[in-house]
Amino acid sequence: MDTAGIRATAYLSAVLLLCNFNGLNYCTAISNVTRAQKVAVGETLTSPGQVFELGFFSPGSSSNQYVGIWYKNISVRKAIWVANREKPLTAADTSASLVIGSDGNLLILDGTNISVWSTNLSVGASEAFAVLLDNGDLVLKDGTSGESLWESFQFPGDTFLPGMKLGVNTITGERRFLSSWQTEDNPLPGLFSVGIVPESPAQAFVWKGSKPYWRTGPWNGVKFFGLPNTAAANLNGFSFQIDRNQGSAYFSITISSSSLVRIVVISPVGALKVLDWDEGTKKWNQWWQEPEGPCDVYGTCGAFGVCNQSRSPICRCMKGFVPKSNEEWRRGNWKGGCVRRTQLLCEKNGSHTSLESGKDDGFWQLSDLKLPDFPIYLNLDDATGCGIWCLNNCSCVAYASIEQVNCIVWVGDLLDVQESSLISAGSLFLRLTKSELGNKFAFKTLGIDGSFPDFSQVIFCFILPGNVKPKSKYIISFSVISALIFFGAIVCGYCRCKANQRGRNSEEFKNEIRLISKLQHRNLVRIMGCCIEGPELLIIYEYMSNKSLDNFLFDATERAQLDWPKRFKIILGIARGLLYLHHDSCLKIIHRDLKASNILLDKDMNPKISDFGLARSFRETQVLGNTRRVVGTFGYMSPEYITRGVFSEKSDVFSFGVLLLEILSSKKNTGFNNHGEHLNLLGYAWHLWSEGTGLELMDQLLAPSLSPVEKMRCLHVGLLCVQDNAIDRPTMSTVLNMLTGEADRPHPKRLSVTFRSNSDCNGQSQDRITSSRIDVTISIVEGR
Ligand SMILES: *[C@@H]1O[C@H](CO)[C@@H](O)[C@H](O)[C@H]1NC(C)=O
Ligand SMILES: *[C@@H]1O[C@H](CO)[C@@H](O)[C@H](O)[C@H]1NC(C)=O
Ligand SMILES: *[C@@H]1O[C@H](CO)[C@@H](O)[C@H](O)[C@H]1NC(C)=O
Ligand SMILES: *[C@@H]1O[C@H](CO)[C@@H](O)[C@H](O)[C@H]1NC(C)=O
Ligand SMILES: *[C@@H]1O[C@H](CO)[C@@H](O)[C@H](O)[C@H]1NC(C)=O
Ligand SMILES: *[C@@H]1O[C@H](CO)[C@@H](O)[C@H](O)[C@H]1NC(C)=O
Ligand SMILES: *[C@@H]1O[C@H](CO)[C@@H](O)[C@H](O)[C@H]1NC(C)=O
Repeated sequence: MDTAGIRATAYLSAVLLLCNFNGLNYCTAISNVTRAQKVAVGETLTSPGQVFELGFFSPGSSSNQYVGIWYKNISVRKAIWVANREKPLTAADTSASLVIGSDGNLLILDGTNISVWSTNLSVGASEAFAVLLDNGDLVLKDGTSGESLWESFQFPGDTFLPGMKLGVNTITGERRFLSSWQTEDNPLPGLFSVGIVPESPAQAFVWKGSKPYWRTGPWNGVKFFGLPNTAAANLNGFSFQIDRNQGSAYFSITISSSSLVRIVVISPVGALKVLDWDEGTKKWNQWWQEPEGPCDVYGTCGAFGVCNQSRSPICRCMKGFVPKSNEEWRRGNWKGGCVRRTQLLCEKNGSHTSLESGKDDGFWQLSDLKLPDFPIYLNLDDATGCGIWCLNNCSCVAYASIEQVNCIVWVGDLLDVQESSLISAGSLFLRLTKSELGNKFAFKTLGIDGSFPDFSQVIFCFILPGNVKPKSKYIISFSVISALIFFGAIVCGYCRCKANQRGRNSEEFKNEIRLISKLQHRNLVRIMGCCIEGPELLIIYEYMSNKSLDNFLFDATERAQLDWPKRFKIILGIARGLLYLHHDSCLKIIHRDLKASNILLDKDMNPKISDFGLARSFRETQVLGNTRRVVGTFGYMSPEYITRGVFSEKSDVFSFGVLLLEILSSKKNTGFNNHGEHLNLLGYAWHLWSEGTGLELMDQLLAPSLSPVEKMRCLHVGLLCVQDNAIDRPTMSTVLNMLTGEADRPHPKRLSVTFRSNSDCNGQSQDRITSSRIDVTISIVEGR
């Protein structure tokens, strides 16, 4: 651009043009201002492409004279920049001039050769010259180096042009902002200015004096959250460059079409307008303006007030808030805003760190809002963490999560909130006490030992079944759990259990959760907390990024990820976890529903036993339990449990044995189909073992040559665990010793039930099963 500008001067400098602007005749078009070449009244400096023009002018009916820049070609003349805004010349002064002074500065001299305006550079270059570029930038350059010494774009007026930057540099202290004219005829800086607040997330503002008058809402990297949608879409080419290292944040417009003439202007009365030149109608076409209505004006409804242009009155208080002064409010003076009706508990106690009381607060979602001012950006990965952070800090009154920005929080008053479906707004989560939220949306969260659960570890949730098998289980993401917890309604949808059908949503249940949550072992999933509200129950586990074992084991491709060392690690881990439950923990716990889908895997594929929903804890003296209802999962239940409802730790050992054989073979005990032979997995394993061909059971994806001894040992232990008689089965401590080769392994007894029930043979009973228990097993539907 610069070199082009200089090149163009050679043939354009002598061009003589006749033109007319505000009654002045311009006769000479000059291409550069030098020591020898001034711009006198009636002369103009033009940009090389004839786009812009600089000269002396008098706006409207003004009797003052200024040096300004305007679009040369546009018949409706509008000065986009004025040099001597604060130091006008009289219109009668026809001897004034724009010159390069002896110190190299660009000066405006009045008729008596007195400088009324100067570029004020301290190190002037005597060879300096000034040119007007085709983007409207007036540049003072060093004549020797060609380096730019000063630019009019550094000192914007009331008009923002493509190529200009608006913003700040916190390191150099530079601020570039628009300032309105005093009146349409007076370029003197007026009341209004336009600029950027660079704090993250950045916002653009119109200020009236030192007070905010209008704002865009936070910038999310793509758009301002708070502008009308139509504008947001049309603001194509508007961009924000934030360079934290350089300390700079600048807003700019890039226009892709060269024929489009677009400017942004702040009017003397504070209206920010976007104008496009329409060559057809020869008019400036204004397609966007802010503020448009009273709700757009900053803080119309005061703190914690919400403005909605379609309402009457336009202001109301947010949920849980009441007008600070009812009288003022009724009079239509809403600026005083609203105050909390019920103080937050943490506020009452004067403690800002009380997690205990923070737990009793919740969030109320407000949608389609222009988000409040003074947003604080937190660098969190997820919206849930944002809510947690907010709950844990009593000063935090709200949070929001918008596209591309996971976490914005507010402390102090919520100001300038507008409700409009036209705005590209976000949802605000307003902190309220539980009593304000109402039962429907409040979830009391129990943490381990009363502490607040650490939700930053994500989460595994399922319906706590009481003593009935869970219908469904969800492994859900962080953001969903956030929704679950904070939008209580959704939780209810997922996790509703009817209290009257359970009878266990009481203290007893809470005690059980408390007890279970005390268990800590690296092969048990940790319970982070649970939510109980009336009939709603939600248990929150630590997050297991690899979900459950069945997802790998029984998947045609995923199972390839489980090589032998991983599988052996998983087997040992489950055994250790179960041993802890049976023997080592302060409680004696029989799991009762051990199965592949209850083995969760963390990011390093460490197995963790989950789902204590069916577990019962016992004092050391109670060894056996008895229950009238048979619960558990078909395929994993021991014979004595199915037929007589008797369970003991040996029932778990049986389930472990089934699981072990499944891990070896990657086959489900229940869905097992061995080429028309009606063997179940246990029967098949027994068959191979007795034939001496046990290695054939192994998943074909396992390298056959790898650790055959370990594999066979596992098969052997598995068969010992699934023996018919509970008394023959080893305890988990023996199992563990046998798996590691430290204990001898007896010969497993022949299994009595080695054939699977088969109901897919035209209803004809193909069963050659001797046991009567099959009646029972058929009637139990498989869980998952
Ligand atoms: C300014 O324009 C004149 C012609 O009017 C030319 O001789 C001179 O070289 C130009 N100076 C610069 C610095 O471009
Ligand atoms: C100025 O206007 C003329 C005719 O109206 C047009 O041909 C020319 O391209 C315009 N120049 C610029 C820079 O817009
Ligand atoms: C202003 O300066 C110019 C050039 O130095 C000179 O020609 C002119 O006479 C001066 N005008 C007055 C009023 O001194
Ligand atoms: C130059 O400095 C003078 C005196 O400090 C000041 O009044 C004037 O506004 C400055 N001009 C510009 C363009 O900054
Ligand atoms: C302050 O907190 C404690 C628990 O930390 C609670 O028992 C007490 O009721 C609270 N006080 C008020 C005034 O809410
Ligand atoms: C709460 O958050 C505010 C804003 O980030 C912070 O200044 C304050 O120190 C926090 N308070 C606590 C107790 O963490
Ligand atoms: C604004 O108020 C009107 C009238 O009460 C209502 O219909 C509309 O939903 C409100 N706007 C929003 C975004 O809530």
